[in-house]
Amino acid sequence: MASSPDTETVGGVTFELRPRRRTSTRKGWICLRKNREYTDRYLSLAAEFAGCRMVEVGVDRGGSTAFFTKLLHPEKLVAVELSDEPVEQLTDFLAEHDRQGRVEVNWGVDQADRAVVPRLLDRAFGEVKLDLVVDDASHFLAPSIATFEMIFPRLRTGGLYIIEDWSNDHLLERGLRASLDTDPQGSSVRKFASLTDGAEQPKTPMSVFICQLVIAAGFHPDWIAEIRVQDGFCELRRGAGDIPLDTPLASYTGMLGEWIFEGRLS
Ligand SMILES: C[S@@+](CC[C@H](N)C(=O)[O-])C[C@H]1O[C@@H](n2cnc3c(N)ncnc32)[C@H](O)[C@@H]1O
Repeated sequence: MASSPDTETVGGVTFELRPRRRTSTRKGWICLRKNREYTDRYLSLAAEFAGCRMVEVGVDRGGSTAFFTKLLHPEKLVAVELSDEPVEQLTDFLAEHDRQGRVEVNWGVDQADRAVVPRLLDRAFGEVKLDLVVDDASHFLAPSIATFEMIFPRLRTGGLYIIEDWSNDHLLERGLRASLDTDPQGSSVRKFASLTDGAEQPKTPMSVFICQLVIAAGFHPDWIAEIRVQDGFCELRRGAGDIPLDTPLASYTGMLGEWIFEGRLS
């Protein structure tokens, strides 16, 4: 029997939680590409971040942008998305629910663009610090680090930087392993074999970044006051220390931290 849709209604708008889909099952509902745990975490943060200054990285069809608009009533939300095709559904939603134009969606922007992203943030926020940042974009290592280096220093003390789905590659491995039993002749098993016998060299997963952030929270607690990891959801609470713009991740982790990931230690 098909399970009933998981929905959350916020400010009169119904969001259907479908992390692996891009459309809702019912007209009038908005597809939110987040699971129940992630959604509940945002609901629990709603009071703290009501009226926030926010950056969202990775918009897709705009379900989450609509969700944050209704849930947080941001004073300003700047969103960036690699696709350069504006999504009509989101444009229409914002025309109805964001009459004051507080939400700005920037299509065709790469999260790793070190010229464009700072320019957008300077234009929208000037010197004013951010409260909340959500990175749900590429889930690749280098662009995720670039975004962090550009944006994390711009958070206020106590502000929150959230990275979603950092564990995707590990979940993929679990899925491939499971298919060894269920579909031994299938293409996923061939894919798994090519990874394990060294025929294909996998990319370094972005989980390395999360491990570096754990070290950073130890080396620089004045910069990262708290790190919270649950499932594929990672939250960093900004400490009170001054962080120069564009500080490289290596400065957050220190020399020993760098050497760990270079394999230089005995
Ligand atoms: C998982 S979807 C975002 C889902 C959305 N946040 C939600 O919850 O409904 C990831 C999005 O990130 C975008 N993306 C991928 N690489 C990117 C990059 N380098 N810069 C900006 N956006 C990127 C993709 O085009 C895609 O739309």
